Amino acid sequence: MCGIVGYIGGKQAAPLLLKGLEKLEYRGYDSAGLAVVNEGEIIVKKARGRLLMLEEMTEYGACVDGRLGIGHTRWATHGEPNDVNSHPHLSLSGRVALVHNGIVENYAELRSFLSEEGYTFVSDTDTEVVVQLIDHYYRGDPASAVRKAAEQLRGSFALGIVFADRPDLFIALRKDSPLVVGLGRGENFIASDVPALLAHTRQIIRLGELEMAVVTREGVTVYDHFGVKVEHEVLNITWDAASAEKGGYEHFMLKEIMEQPEAFRRTVAPRIKDDGTIELGLQKLSDDALRSLERIYIVACGSSYHVGMVARYAIERMARVPVTVSLASEFRYDNPMIGSETLVIIISQSGETLDTLFALREAKERGARVLSIVNVVGSSIAVESTDVLYTWAGPEIAVATTKAYSTQLALMQLFTIYLARVRGKLTDNEAKAEVNALLATPDRLSALLKDTSDLQFLASLYFNRRDIFFMGRNIDYALALEGSLKLKEISYIHSEAYAAGELKHGTISLIEPGTLVIALCTGASLHEKMISNIREVKARGATVIALTTTPIYIDPEHPNANPDHVIYLPDCGELCAPSLTVVPLQLLAYYVALLKGCDIDKPRNLAKCVTVE
Ligand code: F6R
Repeated sequence: MCGIVGYIGGKQAAPLLLKGLEKLEYRGYDSAGLAVVNEGEIIVKKARGRLLMLEEMTEYGACVDGRLGIGHTRWATHGEPNDVNSHPHLSLSGRVALVHNGIVENYAELRSFLSEEGYTFVSDTDTEVVVQLIDHYYRGDPASAVRKAAEQLRGSFALGIVFADRPDLFIALRKDSPLVVGLGRGENFIASDVPALLAHTRQIIRLGELEMAVVTREGVTVYDHFGVKVEHEVLNITWDAASAEKGGYEHFMLKEIMEQPEAFRRTVAPRIKDDGTIELGLQKLSDDALRSLERIYIVACGSSYHVGMVARYAIERMARVPVTVSLASEFRYDNPMIGSETLVIIISQSGETLDTLFALREAKERGARVLSIVNVVGSSIAVESTDVLYTWAGPEIAVATTKAYSTQLALMQLFTIYLARVRGKLTDNEAKAEVNALLATPDRLSALLKDTSDLQFLASLYFNRRDIFFMGRNIDYALALEGSLKLKEISYIHSEAYAAGELKHGTISLIEPGTLVIALCTGASLHEKMISNIREVKARGATVIALTTTPIYIDPEHPNANPDHVIYLPDCGELCAPSLTVVPLQLLAYYVALLKGCDIDKPRNLAKCVTVE
C-alpha cells in the first residue's frame, strides 16, 4: 500500500527512483510520481495510472536532472486517483516536497489552521497538509521543521521529504507505517520495503516508531521522538535479489506457489533437533508460561486469519487450550476479555498490517503476552511482540499470499505440537510422529505441484462462471474460506464459503442448475456428512468438484448425485492435511484468473501491505 523510495548520492536520481518503484509495484497503486532537487529547485513529475506512464513521461528518468530525490506509488485514500492527488506534493512556496504513506486523521483541522495562515491547497489529499505544515515551520533547519510538524500529526505516516535549498540531505520519518533505510557507499536510500533497495545494498536499518532519519551522501543519522540520536543495528539482508524476481514464471503468484515445499522445509526443519524434538527458540515465553496459560487468542486479517482458524481446531484438539480467533479490525473494538493468563498470537506476513499492529498494542495494554508469527524480519509487529517466530518464506511479492500462508500454517502446526507436549497432552512418541508427518510435508507438496494439468483443465471448464461456492466442515471450512478468498481476489468472480451444514439454513437457495460448488471433504470423520451435503447441492443442479483423501463412492444408480470431478489428496493426518488441501485451491484460483486475463500479481484495489485502518 503506497510505495516510497528516496535517494541521495553521485548518480542521477530519477532513473534509480523509477527502478526502485518498479520493485514496489506489488504493493498496489493507482498513480506514481517523483521529486528531484536540482540547482535550488524541486522538479516534480507525476501521473495517474501505471508506473509506465511516469517512465514514458520522463524518458525513464533521463530528462530529470539531479542527484537527490524521492519517489512514490500512491494507493488512494483521501481524494480520487488523479494527477493532482498523486505524490509527491510540493509546498505552496516550492521549498518543500514530500511523499507519504498512511493517513493523517486530523488533516481537516490542520488544513483550516494553515488556510488561516494563508496557505492554499490544490489537491484533496491529507498529504498536502503535511507538506504545507513543514513549509510553515521551515527556517533553514529541515529536521526541526519536520519534528515540529510531526508533533501535530495524528494517524499513521511514513514520510520522505526534500528541501529545494538543501541538495545535501533529505529526511525520512515514520509512525505506524514501515520505512527502511539502505546504506551504500557514497549514497544512501530509503524505501517502504527491501526489494526496492536490493540492487544497491543489503545493509539496511528499519526505522522504529516516530524515528527520523537525516540522510546525506556520507551517512544516515537517526533520531528518536525527542531528538536524541539512536544507534541502530544494521541488518544484513541475506536473500538475493533474484528471490524477489519472477525467475522464469509468468507471475510471482505461480512462482510462490511452486516455492511452497522449500519454504515449508525452511520454516520447519531447522526447528527440529536431531532427537526429533522441537526447539522453537522462544526468547521470553518459557515452557512454564505455556503450561500456565488459560486461553489463547489468535488475531490476524485475511488469509492470516484463516490460518488462525485452522490453528484453533488443531490447538483445541491436540493441546486442549480454548482458542478464540479474532479479526484484528474487530478485536480492538471488542473489549476482549484477556489478561495475563492469555496468550495472544498475532499472525502477519508483512508484520506491518495496521489493524493487526493496533490489536497487538491493545493486547499488550491489557496485560497479555504476545507471540507473533511474522515473515518480515524486524517489522513493527515482530519488534513489539513479547516473542516472535519467523516464517522463513522469503520475500512474497504477489498480493495474494500463498507461500507465506503455507509457512504460517507450518509454524502454527509446529507450535501446536510443542504446546501439546509441554502441557502433557502428547507423549514423546506421539509428538515425534506428528513431527515426522510435518517433515514429510514438503515432499508431499512437491508431488502435488508436479502435475497441475488437472487443475488447468478444471479452470478451463469453469473460468467463466459468475458465482463459485466453497463448502467444508471444521478445518475444511477454514480452508474453504481461504480457497474462496484466493479465487475472488485475483479472478474477480463472486465467491462465498460456507460451513457445509449451514447451507440449508439459507444459502442453498442460491444454488441453481450449473452453480459450481467446491466441496472439501478431507476430514475422515466428517466424510459421510460431506457426502450428504454434496448430494443436497447436486439435487439442486450444482456442478461439484470434491477434494478428498477418502475414496468417494460413485453411485452408478444415481449418476446425478455424484460429484462431477474428484481430486484425491494424499492422507497425511489431520494436522498436516490443510497444508496439502490449500494447494489445489491456490492453483485453481491462479488458472481461472489467468484464463480471465486478470492482473494476477496486482489485483485491482488491493495492496500487499495494508497500512491503513
Ligand atoms: C490474501 C492476503 C491478505 C492478507 C492480509 C493480512 O491473499 O494476502 O488477506 O493475508 O492482508 O496481511 P498480513 O499477513 O501481512 O498481516
